[in-house]
Amino acid sequence: QDERSALKERIRRLLRERNAVMVSHFYVHPDLQDLAEETGGIVSDSLEMARFGRDHAAQTLVVSGVRFMGETAKILSPEKRVLMPDLDANCSLDLGCPVDEFSAFCDRHPDRTVVVYANTSAAVKARADWLVTSSCALDVVSALHAQGRKILWAPDRHLGDYIQRQTGADMASWNGACIVHDEFKALELELLKKAHPAAKVLVHPESPADVIALADAVGSTSAILGAAQRMDASEFIVATDTGMLHKLRTLNPGKIFIEAPTAGNGATCKSCAHCPWMAMNGLVELANALETGAGEIHVDPALGLRARVPINRMLAFTA
Ligand code: 13P
Ligand code: SF4
Repeated sequence: QDERSALKERIRRLLRERNAVMVSHFYVHPDLQDLAEETGGIVSDSLEMARFGRDHAAQTLVVSGVRFMGETAKILSPEKRVLMPDLDANCSLDLGCPVDEFSAFCDRHPDRTVVVYANTSAAVKARADWLVTSSCALDVVSALHAQGRKILWAPDRHLGDYIQRQTGADMASWNGACIVHDEFKALELELLKKAHPAAKVLVHPESPADVIALADAVGSTSAILGAAQRMDASEFIVATDTGMLHKLRTLNPGKIFIEAPTAGNGATCKSCAHCPWMAMNGLVELANALETGAGEIHVDPALGLRARVPINRMLAFTA
C-alpha cells in the first residue's frame, strides 16, 4: 500500500514537472483512472479522449489505454509528445485488420464510402473516408445512408451488423471482433436476467447480436455510464469490460452492477471480460514512461496527415 502511494505521488510530481496531462480510458486500472482525474485530465470513452487531447494546452499527453488511442492523439497533435505506459498495448480489432488486406478490400469496393472504427492502425485510418467510435458510428452511418451512400465497414463485425440492422444501410463488412466482447453469452445472460428480474441490461455494441437483443440500452462506454445514471433502476447487468465497473460504481453508489456472463455451461468466470491490453497499463510503467520518455508514440507525419482527415470529420460531426 505504501509503495503504491509513493508511486502515485511520484507520478503526480512527474506530471507537474513534465507539464503533462493524462487521459485514461474507462477500462484501465482504477488507479490510473483516478490519477488522470485528480491531476486535471479525464477518464472517458475513445471519442472524448481524442477531443480532450487535441484541445488541451499541455505539450505532453499521457494516454492510458491502447495503442490506437495514443496514435489518434499523436495524429491530432503531431507537435505534442504523446506517451503511453506500454506501447505493446494493442487491440484485437487493430491486429485483425492489416493495412494491405484492408486496402485490397477497399479496392474491390470502389463505389463504397469507407467508414472505419477508431480501433485501427494509423495506416488503416489513412485509407478511410470517415472515422467513427461506438459513440457516433450509428449516427454517421445513418447520415451517409440518408444521402444514398453505400458503406464499406471495418473492422468490428458485431458493431457493423448492429448498425446495419438499425439503419438498413447497404454495408460490406470486414470480419473482425473484440476478443473481450465476443465472449459474452446470451443463454447465460438470460438465466442471469431471470435471477435478477428488475435489473436493466447495458451492452456495448461490440457484443454478439443475441446479447445485444437482450439489452435495455446499447452504446459506447460513455453511453453505458449515461444510461446507468439516467435509468430508474437499482440493479444493472453490464456487458462490457469489467474496468467500466469502477466509474459505474463510484458515480452510482446506491446502485448494484453485475458482470454479464462470459463463460458457457453455467460456469462462472470472475472478471473474464477484461481486455489483456488495457491491463498492461500499470503504475510502474506509467512512472517509467514519464521519467525516461519510454513509450513515446511516433506516427509517420505524411501518414498522420492523411489519417487526420477522417478523424477531423468525426470530431466536426460530433462537435
Ligand atoms: P469506447 O469508444 O466505447 O470507449 O470503446 C473503446 C473500446 O475499445 C471498446 O472495447
Ligand atoms: Fe480492443 Fe476489445 Fe480491448 Fe477494446 S476491449 S481495446 S476493442 S480488444
